[in-house]
Amino acid sequence: MLHNLAIKSIEKAFRSAISKGLIREEDTLVMFHDLAFLKERILLLKSLFPPQTLHGVAMKANPLKKILEFLLPLRAGTEVASVGELKLALKTGYPPGMIVFDSPAKTWQDLEFALLTGVHINIDSLAELARVASLKEKIVSDSTLGIRINPQVGIGTIAESSVAGEYSKFGIPVKTKREELEAAFLTYPWLTGVHLHVGSQGCSMELLLNGIGVLYNFVTGINAKRKEMNHPPISIFDIGGGLPVSYRSDQVPVSMEKYAGEIADRFPSLFTSHFSLLTEFGRWVHVNAGWTVSRVEYVKRDPGINTLMIHAGADLFIRECMNPESWPHEYSIFDRSGNLKSGKDQNPYNLAGPLCFSGDILARNVVLPVVEEGDTLVIHDTGGYTIGMWSRYNSRQTPRVIGYEGDEFRILRERESFEELERFWE
Ligand SMILES: Cc1ncc(COP(=O)(O)O)c(C=O)c1O
Repeated sequence: MLHNLAIKSIEKAFRSAISKGLIREEDTLVMFHDLAFLKERILLLKSLFPPQTLHGVAMKANPLKKILEFLLPLRAGTEVASVGELKLALKTGYPPGMIVFDSPAKTWQDLEFALLTGVHINIDSLAELARVASLKEKIVSDSTLGIRINPQVGIGTIAESSVAGEYSKFGIPVKTKREELEAAFLTYPWLTGVHLHVGSQGCSMELLLNGIGVLYNFVTGINAKRKEMNHPPISIFDIGGGLPVSYRSDQVPVSMEKYAGEIADRFPSLFTSHFSLLTEFGRWVHVNAGWTVSRVEYVKRDPGINTLMIHAGADLFIRECMNPESWPHEYSIFDRSGNLKSGKDQNPYNLAGPLCFSGDILARNVVLPVVEEGDTLVIHDTGGYTIGMWSRYNSRQTPRVIGYEGDEFRILRERESFEELERFWE
């Protein structure tokens, strides 16, 4: 499948949305999701891993309820990173057996709730393990339990989203806490899972595979010892997410086909019935399925540089504004009738958000056609880690979110009303 949406297909959908009256005067910012593309991603993912694999799509990448509802009948599960996300999953109708609960800060209450619900829990620390062990003496639970292990294989190109360095705030480090880890797996027969996550974007396939390799060796060693003690083997192997996507139409990312193929080649027993695999891809599932349009409210022209005043900045694109080198997008311009503009202005553009601080600039020195007030800026590849990271600073209303499959459009989330906004601050 294509690694991202072609501008022609975006143009077609945009014009169709205009003709159907879906972009009203107040819709200065609108997000789109190509649901057919999203569905293809899930079906491809499922075709590449063994049938018993649970694909817990990382909810943080896109927690919109309508998106969760769309994924559910495709038999994708969900990975949740807080009790709030866990409750959202349950409310949407995800069975507990399709939910994976990760969080480094689970409270006693969160753990009790999760155990009573019966979701899979990845324990993040030895202190959390002690809490779970004590709760398990009082609670009968269907939950399966694993430990998040930091494989300490190193960091990728983006430090802020890498979590498998020598130090990480997540998981139990495999080298420095090896004895404690072994003791845990030999003490508790019910500890039947391991979990790793190396990072999100910026991690090469080799780094991800190295992480899996470290855990695979660990599990092989421990399972031999567990066997001697008549403990059931560790059989749940959660590889996390992290396969990077391309934010550039001319840069082809490592494919999921390749990644799954390498896992099967290097660690063949993970693809047999000895293991239930778990995956937690978020970015790979969502990012390339979405795009966002903002009306160009004003154009400022200064010597050597133009500035577009648009309707999204650090509220929707916090990472892009704070760390633009690591989070580049592609941009296109439509005229008022929805036609793609071509050509190249002699001066580049800064894409400035509406928020009240000078760092609220989505991208700098972007080469664009000549842009006029009332044109539309398209921000490509915005299907994940955008609306889920929305900031309330300056009280801007969240945008209308539209999903489409071919020429069928539906509102996934309505633009926030002033009353809803007011309620937030009450
Ligand atoms: C524990 C865990 N699993 C899965 C993911 C999803 O990662 P990605 O969206 O890069 O696949 C994350 C994101 O950081 C995570 O922290």
